[in-house]
Amino acid sequence: MTTTVLAPVTPSVRQASPRRYLMCPPRYFEVRYAINAWMQPGIGVDRRRAMRQWLALVAAYRAAGHQVDVLEPVEGLPDMVFAANGATVVAGRVLLARFANRERSSEAAVHAEWHRRHGGGFGGHHVRQPVAVNEGEGDFAVLSNRILAGYGFRTSLRAHAEIAELTGRRVVSLELVDPLCYHLDTALMILDDRADQIAYYPGAFGAASRRRLARLFPDALIATRQDAYAFGLNGVSDGRHVFIPAGALDMTELLRAAGYDPVPVDLSELIKAGGSVKCCTQEIRPALETAGLPAQRAAVRHRIGQSQDRRRGER
Ligand code: ARG
Repeated sequence: MTTTVLAPVTPSVRQASPRRYLMCPPRYFEVRYAINAWMQPGIGVDRRRAMRQWLALVAAYRAAGHQVDVLEPVEGLPDMVFAANGATVVAGRVLLARFANRERSSEAAVHAEWHRRHGGGFGGHHVRQPVAVNEGEGDFAVLSNRILAGYGFRTSLRAHAEIAELTGRRVVSLELVDPLCYHLDTALMILDDRADQIAYYPGAFGAASRRRLARLFPDALIATRQDAYAFGLNGVSDGRHVFIPAGALDMTELLRAAGYDPVPVDLSELIKAGGSVKCCTQEIRPALETAGLPAQRAAVRHRIGQSQDRRRGER
């Protein structure tokens, strides 16, 4: 007779750190053009449902202690809910976006305006207008002292040089080859940006990039195609909680086994436009002098931010 001894559930040993996110409510969300393989123009979207789902993501971030700033949406820009694409902020330095598709190009100015107005609050005095096409954190993933950068569908290689120059960080360029994983944040997610742990789906990358990832990240969590297509890599991690699309079942288990706390979030309406959790979330990484504020002052700033957002927030 064999006895099966169940392994004890490993308690989470991961450390969360407080984050600041910029998000944009899906007030004018719809799918009326197709600029990626997920979008079917004219497919019905339930905007109220989209809004409920988005608000639940905001609430989950706030419940975990994170600050959420709200960017005013603009009528006629249905993809603005995907705020990750609007800019990349690294240690207070902001590289604005330049969109690949005309349909989204006007979003860039709205982000630019927000960063120029609020940048001072996070030490963001360098707001850089890009020359080459880049879609913000859709294709830039920020590690402790490197940036992983996607190319192949949207962001151009020339933009990789621009972000390297602005931030002074080494950039690892990764070629995307699967049209269903057209942004880096649909193929790879950062789990721990201090210890540089990531998860990715190898099938989304060209052969050389796949080899590079395997060499640089031997302890990465490897996602299945099913997970990737359920947007299971389009998650946001604070180092401990991983906010992840509800349908990515295997990834959720992998995360748990690796000591993270997965927080499933259902964004099924937004997936109709080819985006989920990470796409909705632009991380504002403050300049180091701002990040080093004494805890109390930081907490006060956090509360002020929240009440401002509440006043501005959606009902
Ligand atoms: N419909 C949008 C587009 O194709 C979705 C963007 C998703 N954003 C992301 N960070 N992957 O541009």
